[in-house]
Amino acid sequence: MSEKNLILGQTLGFAADPFHAPIDEATLFERRGAVLVEAGRIAATGPADDLRAAHPEAAVCDMGDALICAGFIDAHAHYPQTAIIASWGKRLIDWLNSYTFPEETRFGDAAYAAKIAARYFDLVLASGTTTTCSYCTIHPESVDAYFTEAKRRGLRALGGKTCMNRNAPDGLRDDVQSGYDDSKRLLQRWHGVDRLSYAITPRFAPTSTPDQLAALGALWAEFPDCPMQTHLSEQTDEIAWVTELFPDARDYLDTYEAHGLVGPGALFGHAIHLTSRERARLRQADASLIHCPTSNTFIGSGLFDMPGLMAEGQRVGLATDTGGGSSFSMLRTMAAAYEVAQLRGTALHPAQLIWLATAGSARALRLDDRIGNLAPGIEADLVALDLASTPAIAQRAARAETIWEALFATIMMGDDRAIRQVWIGGAPICAQ
Ligand code: GUN
Ligand code: ZN
Repeated sequence: MSEKNLILGQTLGFAADPFHAPIDEATLFERRGAVLVEAGRIAATGPADDLRAAHPEAAVCDMGDALICAGFIDAHAHYPQTAIIASWGKRLIDWLNSYTFPEETRFGDAAYAAKIAARYFDLVLASGTTTTCSYCTIHPESVDAYFTEAKRRGLRALGGKTCMNRNAPDGLRDDVQSGYDDSKRLLQRWHGVDRLSYAITPRFAPTSTPDQLAALGALWAEFPDCPMQTHLSEQTDEIAWVTELFPDARDYLDTYEAHGLVGPGALFGHAIHLTSRERARLRQADASLIHCPTSNTFIGSGLFDMPGLMAEGQRVGLATDTGGGSSFSMLRTMAAAYEVAQLRGTALHPAQLIWLATAGSARALRLDDRIGNLAPGIEADLVALDLASTPAIAQRAARAETIWEALFATIMMGDDRAIRQVWIGGAPICAQ
């Protein structure tokens, strides 16, 4: 029989989506709870006393008052932008040309790619993120570096070679055939290995010709269980450029739709300035929209319509968009999602914010049967949050009358100091 571990603390899981069910019904909170872990998965959750009595042989790890929840899931990131995060003064297209493309050019060097991949996973794990879905660069070396590092650490991770065959500098373009061939080879090398998934990755419509989009649409049709990730309607200047580049398209989404790139498993980053046709089509296709709030404020992109998109039943995940996003931390990202929604007149509940960063992102990535919740059978990627990690947070938490008030202080003001422990497949890693 395999070893059993019982992790004790306050525990928070979800029975339903708190955007569509009342908070009390959607959440499973235990003031003194436990998570039973066996063979890398959650075997049971419930009151600590009950699980201790039922499993006296289990090794106990008592996290005291820390809040145990699923590890955070960052549904859209660019690990190659790790070293240029927080670059000043540009909007999307200038920012790509000034900072991002020059840095991405370096990832043809396998040693550099390996160094940044290792640093990236150190940073996200220190922030309590246990799954990332990342763009790599056009270089196959950058994909190998990302997946090699994730595999070494036992992480569930998604990623893919970013394809671009136009409007990118020398050294950062592939072509229709090599983009298809390299993507297919990498997909066959990595997809389904351990906990890894390959995401087919056209960067965005401006950097691919229609032929390249069609080739990647064909690749997706060959491997429909892979996710497909790209960017959609992030900035108004970008949308105007797409209109020039694709004069026959009905709208931005149509540049993808016309080439077989809209369907279940499609992950559209940003999705801010959508037309009603695009919204209806995205809903009908059951595609996922990935909200990247620190990026949207940092690059000045606009305000994602969380209330409206949730009300119409869109599949929405949450992400940092590192390094257009200004933080590696999903706590900071939840705080920004709260602020952006406030600017649209809605206060997101702390349970909704945590759900977005865990079960919601898992659902957007179509991995909600494997990660993102405290429930039997789910992989034991967990985080323990210290809800009094700084003097300022501690004094606010001391006044809190509910778990939600206490948790909200950590969401709004917390950083890597709030991450007491992280478990990957049930195994603790050294967080700090
Ligand atoms: N659109 C195309 N590429 C990118 C990128 O790297 N970051 C962001 N934020 N938007 C993009
Ligand atoms: Zn992005």
